[in-house]
Amino acid sequence: MRIEYLPLGKNILNQKEVFFVSCAPHVTPWLKQELTACNFPPFEENYTGLFIKATFQDVILLNYKLLSASRILWLIDKFKSSDQKQLYKKLNNIRWSDYFSEKKYITVTSQTNHPSINNSMFLNQLCKDAIVDYYQKNFNIRPDSGPLRSEVVIHIHWQHDQVWVYLDTSGEQLNKHGYRQNPFKAPVQENLAAAIIYATGWDRKSSFINPMCGSGTFAIEAALMAGNSSPLLDRVNFGYMHLFNYDKKIQRQIKSRLEDEKDFTSMPAIIATDNNGYAIKATRENSNRAGVEHYIDMEKCDFKETKIPDDPGVVLVNPPYGERLGEKEDLGALYTSIGDFFKQKCKGKTGFIFTGDLALAKKVGLRTAARIPFFNGTIECRLLKYDLY
Ligand SMILES: C[S@@+](CC[C@H](N)C(=O)[O-])C[C@H]1O[C@@H](n2cnc3c(N)ncnc32)[C@H](O)[C@@H]1O
Repeated sequence: MRIEYLPLGKNILNQKEVFFVSCAPHVTPWLKQELTACNFPPFEENYTGLFIKATFQDVILLNYKLLSASRILWLIDKFKSSDQKQLYKKLNNIRWSDYFSEKKYITVTSQTNHPSINNSMFLNQLCKDAIVDYYQKNFNIRPDSGPLRSEVVIHIHWQHDQVWVYLDTSGEQLNKHGYRQNPFKAPVQENLAAAIIYATGWDRKSSFINPMCGSGTFAIEAALMAGNSSPLLDRVNFGYMHLFNYDKKIQRQIKSRLEDEKDFTSMPAIIATDNNGYAIKATRENSNRAGVEHYIDMEKCDFKETKIPDDPGVVLVNPPYGERLGEKEDLGALYTSIGDFFKQKCKGKTGFIFTGDLALAKKVGLRTAARIPFFNGTIECRLLKYDLY
């Protein structure tokens, strides 16, 4: 039986819906802070993200603005399913054509702890079949599908016997902020860098100093924050653009309002140094692409030679930590000299070391004021805080 083609269209543009804003493990406190600052206080949270109520228009704004998020997922259905057959049937019964056209390329992603599934690719395939078969049954056409995330992205979360069905309004993940074409070595993911800066409590007015800057991720994110800007404003493709609710005119208005709110007129000192010339080249190229090259003072030098302004500010160092760069044995002395540098040259500042090696961190020889957990990919890390009197 062919069902009536009835896109929800613009009817729900101003209607509050439930969205799950996902992030890396341990980033939730900082994403919560970011969401609350944008007037979207979450009503529920778990280890991998936060639930908010928002309109489709709000979500256009949030996809541009949220620097520590990974994806913004629109909850379109929630049901119980105890086995694969039931899951297929319930997914096949969703009126997908209310949300997107059969001409769209679809990508399915999924996450599950269900005992019948030991391969997430298999679950993706099962869900994709249910959706494609829906279009085949009702419109006699099979939408193109694959892993590209370039148009409609559907995310299925199956936990015990509960299933959450989402449309991914971000499409391609928000982890990448688009400016980093030269990653140099062992870079921190852009949305993780933003969360780490939030965790330092930096006020965006005092100096931000980043010795061992590598590809410049921290300095670039800091400059964008100080200028009330977002690198995601340059992104031209989001998942929401492929849904019926998308209104190009409204998206343009939101984007242009955010462009007007940028303010680089009174920037603090933002300093990025590295002893490797290629790292400084990468920082220059990446910051140029992000539009903040002129607000970052870059220099090739040993970290100990970094110029330190007089005001109270933040010094954030992400030294090599053995897992991914160089050999561990050589690194102990480097960490001890970071401690000496903090003590001797950074009085009055708050010092931070972001590292994945706690044994090396002990070599710093200073008392930590806080130890904040993060994950950099699969590596468990700490942001160590030092009050430098
Ligand atoms: C883990 S990487 C930093 C990655 C950076 N956070 C990013 O996102 O690209 C560590 C950096 O420390 C630099 N480095 C190592 N020893 C140094 C030293 N003595 N002085 C200055 N930089 C140093 C390396 O060249 C490398 O770029």
